[in-house]
Amino acid sequence: MPNQHPRPSFTWLGHATFRCTLPGGEVMLIDPWVMGNPACPEELQSLDRLDAMLITHAHGDHMGDAVELARRHRPRHVVGAYEICTWLQSQGVENCSGMNVGGTQELLDLTVTMVRADHSSSLMDGDRIVYGGMAAGYVVKLPGGFTFYHAGDTALFSDMQLIGELYRPELAFLPIGDFYTMDPQQAARACRYLNVRKVVPMHWGTFPVLTGTPRKLVEALEDLGVACEVLALQPGETY
Ligand code: NI
Ligand code: MN
Repeated sequence: MPNQHPRPSFTWLGHATFRCTLPGGEVMLIDPWVMGNPACPEELQSLDRLDAMLITHAHGDHMGDAVELARRHRPRHVVGAYEICTWLQSQGVENCSGMNVGGTQELLDLTVTMVRADHSSSLMDGDRIVYGGMAAGYVVKLPGGFTFYHAGDTALFSDMQLIGELYRPELAFLPIGDFYTMDPQQAARACRYLNVRKVVPMHWGTFPVLTGTPRKLVEALEDLGVACEVLALQPGETY
C-alpha cells in the first residue's frame, strides 16, 4: 500500500545545518548556523519562516545563529539540552523546551527524541566558557511513521544499534568529516548499526581539516557490504 503521508524535504545549508520543510509547510532548522556558516549559499541565508529549531549541541558551528534567528522569526519551539536552553533564555530566546538524552517531546506533529552523541558541548559567552550539557542527536518521527535520525557531531558508538532497533529510522544524517567527528569508515559502520536505507553525509568540506568525502563513504559501505544509498548533497541542494 502506498504511503498516504507526504514526506518532508531537507535542504542542506552546509555543515550540519538542514532546513526541513514539513508536509504542512512548517519550517524546522536542525542546528541553526546559517548567516555565519561559510558553506551556506547566500540566497539561503534568509528564511521565509521558522517554526522550530532543534539544537544538537552548543558549539558555534551548530548553534551560532540561534539567538539571532530566534529574534528575527520567533519560532514556536526551540529544543536543545536543558543547559543550552537555560543559556538561550538568558539571551531573551522564548519558547525554549530544554530536554535531555533519552527523552521525547511532541512539536509540530512531530515526535522528537533526543539521543546520545559522543562529543563535547560548550559555548563562549564573552570570555566565559558555558557548559552545554551533553551533546546529542535527534530521532524525529512524522505522522505516518517516517523517521529520520540526525546524529549531530559524534564518534561511532555501538549503541547506534539501539537507535536502529528502537526507532527504525529510514534516513540518517551522519557526520563524515573526521577530526571532530566520525570519518567515512566509522560512518559506514554506523549505517550498518542503524540499518538505514539512505544516508546524507554532513560535517565535511567546510574546513580543510574535514577530510572525509561522500565518495569515501560509498567505498567504505561497499567494503563492508552494507546496502545503503549515499545521498551526496551539495550545500543548497534539497532531498
Ligand atoms: Ni561540535
Ligand atoms: Mn561541529
